[in-house]
Amino acid sequence: MKTFYIETFGCQMNVHDSEKVIGTLNQQGYSQVATPEEAGLVLYNTCSIRDKAEQKVFHRLQQFQKEAGKSGKVYGVLGCVAQQEGERIFERAPHVSLVVGSASYPKLPELLVQIESGGRRVTGLSLDTEETFETSFTRRDNPHRAYITIIEGCDKACAYCVVPRTRGPERSRTAASILAEARQLAASGYTEIQLLGQNVNSYRDPSPGGARFAQLLREVGAVEGLRRVRFTTSHPRDFTRDIIEAMDGNPVLCNHVHLPVQSGSDRVLSNMQRLYTRGEYMRRIEWMKHSHRNIAITTDIIVGFCGETGEDFEETIRLVEEVGYDSMFSFKYSQRPNTPALSLTDHVPEEEKARRLSILQEKQRGIQMRRNAAYIGERHEVMAEYFNQATGQWVGRTAQNKTLNFLLGGRPAPTPGQYLDVLVTRSGPNSLAGEACA
Ligand code: 5AD
Ligand code: SF4
Repeated sequence: MKTFYIETFGCQMNVHDSEKVIGTLNQQGYSQVATPEEAGLVLYNTCSIRDKAEQKVFHRLQQFQKEAGKSGKVYGVLGCVAQQEGERIFERAPHVSLVVGSASYPKLPELLVQIESGGRRVTGLSLDTEETFETSFTRRDNPHRAYITIIEGCDKACAYCVVPRTRGPERSRTAASILAEARQLAASGYTEIQLLGQNVNSYRDPSPGGARFAQLLREVGAVEGLRRVRFTTSHPRDFTRDIIEAMDGNPVLCNHVHLPVQSGSDRVLSNMQRLYTRGEYMRRIEWMKHSHRNIAITTDIIVGFCGETGEDFEETIRLVEEVGYDSMFSFKYSQRPNTPALSLTDHVPEEEKARRLSILQEKQRGIQMRRNAAYIGERHEVMAEYFNQATGQWVGRTAQNKTLNFLLGGRPAPTPGQYLDVLVTRSGPNSLAGEACA
């Protein structure tokens, strides 16, 4: 029997790629097993966004290096580290025989045939493919919430970022195929859809007519049976006002926008080649604040980018206060191979990066405490996810993507995927808590 094990690192795009890879492997007669020990084919779907993420996969591979010759297993590296390191992976981890970047997944069936016929160094590293990875064999893990890729790759050139090199140029799927997938998912019981892309706002239907993202969002939001439609990730430069108008017009479009700002300083934004100013970013925030929906706003921030002064960092802190984010992912700048920022020299010392990161995180914690406390006394609809044995509470998620833990208050237990109303009675920095009320 042909068996495989897969471990996934990185973003939701990678998680969804793995679902498609798993479906493709099943189709080729492979069955998935839970541990690398049981598997004939061991795959790592990798992330290279920061150095730490990249190190993880080499650490995993090293664990198997000694016994690799004896076990007869085939090892494969997929995803962003595969694309970035290419054939160098065979030097760093000689027991690896398959290296495939995400742009080459449509070729996976042929590459597997090469592996099965004894291929020792099989690669799929082409980035010039016009294709997107569309497959009817996606193996989705969650029966209620599904990802749909709408655009692959990225045409921006943010100075710190590997993604344009690991995922290649932008390729949008046709709106017709996206809508067909959304309808088919709704028909098979999915109620929540998350539209995915490195930059969903630059979506453009390649068919005649060329609908833009807001139009696509409207159409997906109108698919019968769907109750929640989300999207990620947005780029401030391409984020248009009609996206907010679409959200205003249809409650199925969840009131949450993840809009990475990266820095509050114009000087740093310019060095990062982000293509917007602080003022332009804040205009988008104003659009959201003027919406009649209460839109949750979340972001990503990098501290200690080359040349970031104490004053630049203060501007980031001021922006964070001004926006009042609902949640934030924050990172120390990490130098990445083949990125434009490699030519910058004015490095911020590691200890200073760490200091700034902890100041930023402390500030954000206070903001989240304050923001979440304002929900006490409100009723919010959640999708029930699972019962947490340790806390004795159900875990649900609101439309704003906040975690809301709840007690049943004598009501019957929901089934996962069910929607119910919860009265918020308590709050913390990272979640809300309450009691089911309908
Ligand atoms: N160093 C640190 N953080 C980075 N990110 C992207 N590249 C780097 C890097 N080289 C962060 C950005 C991005 C998020 C996904 O990861 O904030 O929005
Ligand atoms: Fe990591 Fe970026 Fe690749 Fe996602 S696209 S896996 S975040 S490097």
